Parts: sequence; structure tokens; C-alpha cells
Amino acid sequence: MVRYFFTRTARMPGFEVEHNQFLRTTRTVFVNIKYRGFVLTILGIIARASSKLQLPIMQKFMFQEHGSEYSGLDTGGIVEVQNLDLPKEKQKTATRYEAASEYEFRDVLERLKVQYDQYNFIDYGSGKGAILAAAATYPFKSVVGVEHSFMLHEIATENIIKMKRRNSVVANVLHSVHGDATTYELPSEPHIIYLFNSFGADILKDVTDKITHDLADVHEPIFFLYNNPMHHAVLDDNDKFHRISSPFGGKWMVYTVNP
Ligand SMILES: C[S@@+](CC[C@H](N)C(=O)[O-])C[C@H]1O[C@@H](n2cnc3c(N)ncnc32)[C@H](O)[C@@H]1O
Repeated sequence: MVRYFFTRTARMPGFEVEHNQFLRTTRTVFVNIKYRGFVLTILGIIARASSKLQLPIMQKFMFQEHGSEYSGLDTGGIVEVQNLDLPKEKQKTATRYEAASEYEFRDVLERLKVQYDQYNFIDYGSGKGAILAAAATYPFKSVVGVEHSFMLHEIATENIIKMKRRNSVVANVLHSVHGDATTYELPSEPHIIYLFNSFGADILKDVTDKITHDLADVHEPIFFLYNNPMHHAVLDDNDKFHRISSPFGGKWMVYTVNP
């Protein structure tokens, strides 16, 4: 029991990525306090505990692990891989669509302490655009998502139109691109690169090779934020990637890239 609480592996058959569940939960609680406030977080914890005890009271306060409860955008739900409109050879290695936690993302991003207006932000496998929507509230030079499913790319595009109509976009440029992460050309400028375990090790290897090739002339620091880092061995084995931290008890890994 004690061992379970302090070390737990990610739930993907065949892969063992250790998370420290205790650190992860502690950090999640702090992040919720930071972005939702103390009272709502406590109510959220009570709601969560009561749901686990099969006494579902106060469920409206339940905090969401995925997506944002406030954005009003269509980013929720899960789309299993077999229901994604991806080419057959890419479907084998792709992961299902589900949005990441906006609060965890904001926390990891803000800890970099960079000048956002010097950076382009890219999400490889951006889905319906939940993280694009969060990133676009920072003054990045550009926020771009690359998504291989046309169906999800179209939903992201609708979400972006809604955000622009509401004037909630702070970044200079915001768009979703329909395409394969392995072939997307990065402009030769400083980047913050984000990935939520969108694909397997083979595709990740191709993507990292493309990143170091396209950004070879960039001398400013480049960051790679890896959420649910199932294939971190690909980055650990690449001498151009240097791990600088493992926030959320290993659930996120942050690297700098020296192409
Ligand atoms: C777990 S979702 C991530 C969603 C979003 N990035 C977030 O953090 O909320 C992974 C996404 O990667 C996409 N994907 C898988 N393989 C891809 C590829 N080769 N190129 C671009 N997108 C891909 C899937 O269609 C899916 O929408």
C-alpha cells in the first residue's frame, strides 16, 4: 500500500514509467489552489472523495483533470484511436484524444520564467486545441498546433474562431494546422515545444530529428515540455536533449534542446 502510494507506473501495457503518486497528488492540489483558489479546491477534494466512496455529493465542485471547466470551448471527451481519422500506418502508433490539464500546463510553463514574446509555441498532436487555448493567453509570438486528425483539427479551428471573437487571444498568431508532426517545418526561431504523449517512440524519434534539424541555427534556449512521458528514453538517449526537471512526480518531464 505504502509502495503503491509512493511509486506507481503509468497505465499503458508494456511500458513502465514511474510516477511518484504522492508528489503528483500534492502538486496537483497546490496547482488547483493556485488557479482555482483554496475554497473551490477543498470542495473539489471533498467531491472527489465522496465520488470514490460511491456517495456522489457536491459533484458540481469536482475538479477536472482534463480540459478546462471555464473555457466554454469544445475540448472535452475522449476519442479512441480507432475512431480517429488517421492514416492506417499512423494509427498504429497514435494515442487517443484527450485534453491535458490546463492548470498543470500553466504551472509547468510559468516555471520556465521566459519572456513569452521571444518564443513560438508548438503543440504536436494538438487535438481539439485545449492547450492551444491556454497557451494563447500568453503573449507568444505564435501558438501553433499540428494535428493529424482532420476531424479534431476542424473542432480546434472552431474553438480558435470562438476565442478570437471573444478577444481572449493574447498571442500574436494562433492556428491549428492539419498535418503530420513528422513533416511540419519549424521556423528557425526560439520555441517552446509541447507534447502530450501523442505518439510512439518511432514517430517521436523522427519528430526530435526534425526539431534539431529545423532549429540548428537557433542559439537561444529551446524547451521541450513532455506530458505523460511514456517514451522519454528517446529524449534521454539524444545528446541534444537535456532533462532539467520532472514535475508532478515524474508525470511531466522538461528538457532543454541544444540543436
Ligand atoms: C493525447 S492527445 C493530445 C491533445 C492535446 N495536445 C492536449 O494536450 O490537450 C494526442 C493527439 O495526437 C494526435 N496525433 C497522433 N499522431 C499524430 C501525428 N503523427 N501527427 C500529429 N498529430 C498526431 C492524435 O490525433 C491526438 O489528437
